[in-house]
Amino acid sequence: MSPNISSAEQSALNTTLGVNSTIHTSFTPNADFTPPEDFAILPTLQEVLINPKGPTEIPLKTQHDYTNDNYKYKDFLPYVTLTSEPALAPYEHIDVATHADPEKKAFFAAVPNRKDMTPNIGTEVRGIQLSQLTEKQKDEMALYVAERGIVVFRDQDLVDQGIESLKEFGSYFGRLHTHQWGPHPKGHPDLDISFRDSAKGTYLDDRAEGALNTIAWHTDMSYEVNPPCTTFLCSLTTPECGGDTLYVNCMTAYDRLSPPMQQFLEGLSAVHSGTAQSLLLTKSLLARRPTIDTVHPVVRKHPVTGRKALWVNKGHTARIAGVKKPESDLLLNFLYDHIHRGIDFQTRVKWEKGTVTVYDNRMVQHSVTLDYALDDGAIRHLVRVTPQGERPAL
Ligand SMILES: [Fe+2]
Repeated sequence: MSPNISSAEQSALNTTLGVNSTIHTSFTPNADFTPPEDFAILPTLQEVLINPKGPTEIPLKTQHDYTNDNYKYKDFLPYVTLTSEPALAPYEHIDVATHADPEKKAFFAAVPNRKDMTPNIGTEVRGIQLSQLTEKQKDEMALYVAERGIVVFRDQDLVDQGIESLKEFGSYFGRLHTHQWGPHPKGHPDLDISFRDSAKGTYLDDRAEGALNTIAWHTDMSYEVNPPCTTFLCSLTTPECGGDTLYVNCMTAYDRLSPPMQQFLEGLSAVHSGTAQSLLLTKSLLARRPTIDTVHPVVRKHPVTGRKALWVNKGHTARIAGVKKPESDLLLNFLYDHIHRGIDFQTRVKWEKGTVTVYDNRMVQHSVTLDYALDDGAIRHLVRVTPQGERPAL
């Protein structure tokens, strides 16, 4: 897939974005899109393709018609939008943790029960509602998440407050990201829905096809100019057993390297690309805007804590910039191997009803495990609220 905009357009775009980014426009506009035979969207798509009338939302195929039963989270059922939008505008982010009390006294005073999941990453919290936090507590919570990598809040009512409240809550932490193609609740493209039931053929299954396991470590949307910062993944309906999410601390991954290796990596940058993710579209979904490539540093620094983290991920990093391909492959494979094998700086979240996992997408990577059986009616349904952060810098 190659870019098909002119060099003048690319130059103008780079000026606008202020960064070294490349926009790919090789996806066919909606009206000309011919779905493959195994396309997983309802038949109404055909009408839309023949008579496109602006942005149109299409429900994603599910095994059952949840709109006609008593499913509690109908408002969060997955839709995709047939549309053609420009690249996301650059965004100036000031992290809310900038204002936080380093001792986090207001937040800790409201937390009756917290327990570290492992020494190096993750803390589980009970007895506090995210929906009730003051602004001061939100700032301190964001700082705490940056330090621990992830914090798991149990028994939350955040999603039960409704979609508008959820978005208002998330917007406090940064501009909400709209995914380049990801499913979203109807009318709310700035939320992200993960939905998998026994209707196979989702992009998750596409991704796992032909692999030896279902693990796919990544940072969410690292190809964006403004990748996500403090991110909220909220359980709606999850399997009795399985479908856990794995997290790895990339601050510790950086710390484990020797000083000469750290110094070497700090001089490098890498191309992050949305293309690999968009190639999944050939089977099940549609892009809402062109894919983008962006150059980011291989090591980034958190804007508030100052901690450094390795910032390449197998999901979206295409290559190390400015070196030969064998050199890039060697370096990236070494770093992925180091990150993926670091079980002593990883943790695992088992989803429960009301669980909200808050993670700092700048400092950790994660992966779903698709290990649960679908034929017993299991559903895995989550909503992600994804504020965008600053442009990565060292
Ligand atoms: Fe993710």
